[in-house]
Amino acid sequence: MKSAMYSTFADEYDLAIQDNIYNAHLERPSLQALLPDIAGLNILDLGCGSGVYAEYLLDQGANHVTSIDYSADMIQLLQNKMEKRQQPDKTHAYVQDLSLGLPQEKDASADLVIAPLMIHYLKNLHPLFEEVHRVLKTNGMFVFSSHHPFVDFASSSSKNYFATEKIQEEWHTLGRPVEVTFYRRPLSDIMNALAQSGLLLTHMSEGQVSQKVKTMDEKRYQHLTTRPNFLFIQSLKGVE
Ligand SMILES: C[S@@+](CC[C@H](N)C(=O)[O-])C[C@H]1O[C@@H](n2cnc3c(N)ncnc32)[C@H](O)[C@@H]1O
Repeated sequence: MKSAMYSTFADEYDLAIQDNIYNAHLERPSLQALLPDIAGLNILDLGCGSGVYAEYLLDQGANHVTSIDYSADMIQLLQNKMEKRQQPDKTHAYVQDLSLGLPQEKDASADLVIAPLMIHYLKNLHPLFEEVHRVLKTNGMFVFSSHHPFVDFASSSSKNYFATEKIQEEWHTLGRPVEVTFYRRPLSDIMNALAQSGLLLTHMSEGQVSQKVKTMDEKRYQHLTTRPNFLFIQSLKGVE
């Protein structure tokens, strides 16, 4: 289910999310609030897109960031940014379909795994979550965000909340309609996939939109301060 949004239009997507409401002023600050102290950590960024998170993690003092995405266009954009930073020993990026797991990553090698706004593109969460557990060190953290399942239910064609279903929508992220396809599933499926992989829930949030949005779009600010939009999960690989 590759979307043109993340391939053909990858450049435009990268520009659009630098300072927009949903990514820059809701998703990123909310997910970043769940991250540990980044200094010195070895990090995997799953569904890395154009590298907005990789840049943030390096700015925060990460020891090494491995960025993975199945869009070659996104990986190219990210590599261009990383070349400009001139920190070749601190980054590595490659193309991988994450529905097939993390075959290139070693057991117990990562301190932190993040997956911002990626898991809703996977039909089945179990294979990836099991792989995240495998590659994390003991006490390593997995932090991800996703569409809030209650919000996506408004677009359900089955009208069965408990079903996992494919949803097709037109998004206006680029200032014009672009079709995007993703999966909607019940909240219990997300939480049980996490628990069954052996990861322990340590914090859940439904996000907090930045104050700045009030001046950007007052109506949207009211909407986002009274309704959920994304779900944020912080989890830990405990001692076994
Ligand atoms: C909404 S974008 C988020 C990008 C980035 N995490 C961010 O927050 O800026 C979702 C990304 O997940 C990637 N993606 C979707 N399905 C994937 C899969 N099965 N394997 C690897 N990457 C995938 C897309 O190519 C896209 O770059």
